[in-house]
Amino acid sequence: MSRRLTAAALLLLGLAGAGPAGGQTPAPPTEGLRHLAAGRDLWIGAAVAYAPTAFPTDSRYVNTLAREFNVLVAENVMKWQTIRRDGRASWRFQFGDELVAFAQSHGMRVRGHVLAWHSGIPSWLARASFSREEAIALLEEHIARVVGRWKGRIWAWDVVNEAIADGPAGSRRSPQESVWERWIGEDWIDVAFRAAAAADPDALLFYNDYNIEAPFSAKQNAVYNLIAGLQARGVPIHGVGFQGHFVLGQTPSKAALMASMDRFAALGLIVQVTELDIRMSPPITPAKLAQQAEESRRVVEACLEHPACDTVVLWGIDDGHSWRAGGAPLLFDARLEPKPAYFAVREALAGRPGRL
Ligand code: XIL
Repeated sequence: MSRRLTAAALLLLGLAGAGPAGGQTPAPPTEGLRHLAAGRDLWIGAAVAYAPTAFPTDSRYVNTLAREFNVLVAENVMKWQTIRRDGRASWRFQFGDELVAFAQSHGMRVRGHVLAWHSGIPSWLARASFSREEAIALLEEHIARVVGRWKGRIWAWDVVNEAIADGPAGSRRSPQESVWERWIGEDWIDVAFRAAAAADPDALLFYNDYNIEAPFSAKQNAVYNLIAGLQARGVPIHGVGFQGHFVLGQTPSKAALMASMDRFAALGLIVQVTELDIRMSPPITPAKLAQQAEESRRVVEACLEHPACDTVVLWGIDDGHSWRAGGAPLLFDARLEPKPAYFAVREALAGRPGRL
């Protein structure tokens, strides 16, 4: 499909008047973002909160997910903290199974999140002590079993998450902070990627991190060097995830985002925006919501316009279920009504200039 829709096609799709007019919030569309995204060769996704008030029981939440998005990520239920909560010998796959089945029956792709991360681990693991050999075996066993469980049904895996520390040094997370650094040492990342590739040779394998979206920051440089090192050693990796946890007013410009994508594209990688949210400090005002709309539009446009970028995933559907709920960072409000940011993303996907 073409990246561009003609004006005639837009009229046929009935999108010519989809944006807000005169400050009024239009009714939610019956056809979601995913239809527009498909016409632009872009995948648009959301992280799914598995909770009594969300998936799978809240029908408005579930309907919004199915209508708007064609990529689904488990916000928490594919992490160690969920799958391995009860100990080394116990595996809790039922929540992930349900999400994967939902995605399949609704024509959605699944991003798997996450196989190796210093955070999101169960307390038994955090308190444990393993030799290097034992830890390698544990990590390999986990990855083989989890990736194997959904082999062929998970499009892309976040294999390694957030291995680089914040700050100007661009160093790895410390052994105190990361059990994998502590037990295995630097090459735990190689171990994780090789294990994932062995378990599902067709899955796309990603390194995923935050604060790497601005070009030539120390952290971005460190991630770039880390990935270049993996490639030099023949470790399989296909993409880099820009998490995109932004603060209103600090979202990088479109040019900056695209310059960052250029760097990783030059390594032959796919770039995906994997956890987009743009949080504001209270109070939530119309002016801030309008600014959030512009910044959301900018991120989607950068991805649309960069040939290496094929996916934008929001880190949640609505503000009520966001991990940054107080910052109103998403496209829908807590009542699941679309916000100005929703309409801005819609316009970007429709290829129309900004008017908000
Ligand atoms: C967050 C979830 O949204 C929260 O519900 C959970 O309590 C902690 O993790 N980077 C990531 C995500 O890669 O897994 C994190 O998700 C947000 C930051």
